[in-house]
Amino acid sequence: MSKPKILLTRHYPQAVIDRARRDYDTVLPDHDISANGDELIAQLQGVDGVVISASNKFTAEVIERLPEQLKIIASFSVGYEHVDIEAAKSKGLVVTNSPDVLNDATADTALLLLLAASRRAREASEMVLRGEWVGWSPTKLLGVQPTGKRLGIIGMGRIGRAMANRCRALGMQIHYHNRSRLSGDLEGDATYHATPNELFKVADFLSIHCEMTPETTKLVNAETIELLPENPVIVNTARGGIVDDDALIAALKSGRVAAAGLDVFDGEPNLNPEYLKIPTAFLLPHIGSATVDTRNAMGFRALDNLDAYFAGKEPGDRLA
Ligand code: DGY
Repeated sequence: MSKPKILLTRHYPQAVIDRARRDYDTVLPDHDISANGDELIAQLQGVDGVVISASNKFTAEVIERLPEQLKIIASFSVGYEHVDIEAAKSKGLVVTNSPDVLNDATADTALLLLLAASRRAREASEMVLRGEWVGWSPTKLLGVQPTGKRLGIIGMGRIGRAMANRCRALGMQIHYHNRSRLSGDLEGDATYHATPNELFKVADFLSIHCEMTPETTKLVNAETIELLPENPVIVNTARGGIVDDDALIAALKSGRVAAAGLDVFDGEPNLNPEYLKIPTAFLLPHIGSATVDTRNAMGFRALDNLDAYFAGKEPGDRLA
């Protein structure tokens, strides 16, 4: 029996490509297909399944134009806002994501951002690199101490909980908002807040781990930033669109927000250029899950979903 034909839209890690080639008739274009539209549709002709990344936008319009032969879209990502799930369902397409395997790597990045932002790592590092360090000082580059502070987590899913565990070790008090309250064993000593605004009021540090939905778009905005206690630190490893950049930039410039650690940006990689000028903004290029182990695991998870589908079973991470 011939193998199903799949397209890899990106150059995923070699171990993932090797496994795909072993098990499928695999199409790997010589360049990344990162945009939506005509090229994507052209590459998908004659293909049964596709492994996509969050840069491949499967809007309702793109889905409408997909060839009938395509049966399954497996995303190499936990986030899936780049696929119109309802449109996929109407077309009878199966869609999967790759959750769980990136919880630790992403929470590690959130912790890195929390510490780097609160300890002014960008300014400190730039001072050394520019040759401007003149010696130890009792008052230079003083940051915000996390110990004993309240960490507000928006979205207490698997990544949010992994971040909570890391921050418990820093001696922080964990507060959270989630669409539904966690069971006692998952909640532990964390304090639940029924609304995001209630959480904002106590978040000395705020870490964003929710999905990007119409409800969470620009959830961190001029009004909600005003609810935060004095000198807050904001961390985002989820999606850039959850933060209103103009509001955060204004708050960083005025000092209303002490610092921000950001791995994701609205419109990335074209982030708002004002961030580049703000020393208290510690910026990373969407590397939340970027470890060898994790990226391999994400690819294998996407392939597991394809394997299940083509074996006539239910894919474990089915979204549509
Ligand atoms: C994810 O898995 O959603 C990461 O942000 C990469 O897209």
